[in-house]
Amino acid sequence: MSTTPTPTLILGSEGQLGSELRRALLEQLPPESVLCTDLRPGPQAGDSPFELLDVLDEGALRNVFERYRPQRVYLLAAMLSATGEARPRDAWKLNMDGLLRVLDLSVEMGVDRVFWPSSIAVFGPDSPKDPAEQAGYMDPMTVYGISKLSGELWCRYYHSKHGLDVRSLRYPGILSWRTPPGGGTTDYAVEIFHRALDQGRYTGFLSAHTRLPMMYIDDAIRGTLELMDAPAEQITCRTSYNLGAMDFTPAELADSIQKMVPGFEMNYEPDFRQAIADQWPQRVDDTLARRDWGWAPRFDLEATCRVMLESLREPSF
Ligand code: SER
Repeated sequence: MSTTPTPTLILGSEGQLGSELRRALLEQLPPESVLCTDLRPGPQAGDSPFELLDVLDEGALRNVFERYRPQRVYLLAAMLSATGEARPRDAWKLNMDGLLRVLDLSVEMGVDRVFWPSSIAVFGPDSPKDPAEQAGYMDPMTVYGISKLSGELWCRYYHSKHGLDVRSLRYPGILSWRTPPGGGTTDYAVEIFHRALDQGRYTGFLSAHTRLPMMYIDDAIRGTLELMDAPAEQITCRTSYNLGAMDFTPAELADSIQKMVPGFEMNYEPDFRQAIADQWPQRVDDTLARRDWGWAPRFDLEATCRVMLESLREPSF
């Protein structure tokens, strides 16, 4: 339990990652030191201040930085892979302009540390797939992946040019039960739990044997906070760290759920998201994250299925 209030700003606090990050930060920090912002309305009478904010609204973003003077900034407002393919220019604008504005303001205002999420989407069809190396060949084909790879290079640029302490993780698909993901290629791995419980069946949009790297939300949030708390001299990667936990196919996930939800039926109707998943790695090599700041995941497939099903059956918010 930290007692030093660190003014912390979350941009995109109502999404899958932001909402869980807010919960985790409020366990460590006094509520008044965590400013949450999002395009969507947040908690009305919550424990921490909340403001409606579009990160692309330059004046409003500056205003938040000036009034709040954050020491740590988490930029989680982004458009994911599947939505990005439908709206490529919007995805580029949000993912790139949003990042550059936050980096500029962070330099100007002397922000201590910035977190920005990257993704397994930085890898492409010719990248090694099993595993994807930390610094291997990267040829992303989605606008989301292109924006993430470019963003990683911008982060490194701001670190070397301006000394900004910006840190990043390449998240795999994230499984969570409180807040759903939105517009991603890995979203099937969350939808499946909801349908298993309310309908006893699910038709997935990826083929049965599409293996992808995945992670339970608690691991993702703990990894994020551990990275942000690590001493700067331990951070040797200024683009973005590969972060692994588990990998599975839709068929393996369905098998695991069937053991806990007898009679659950799974079907497969791959759509346009199959082509995206086919470009991504099956596993990632996260040796560097383990070595630099001690990353170690705690949730495997079975533990994740158990906690997802138990929590959805009896949610504790
Ligand atoms: N979960 C993301 C997506 O599917 C990958 O970073 O777009």
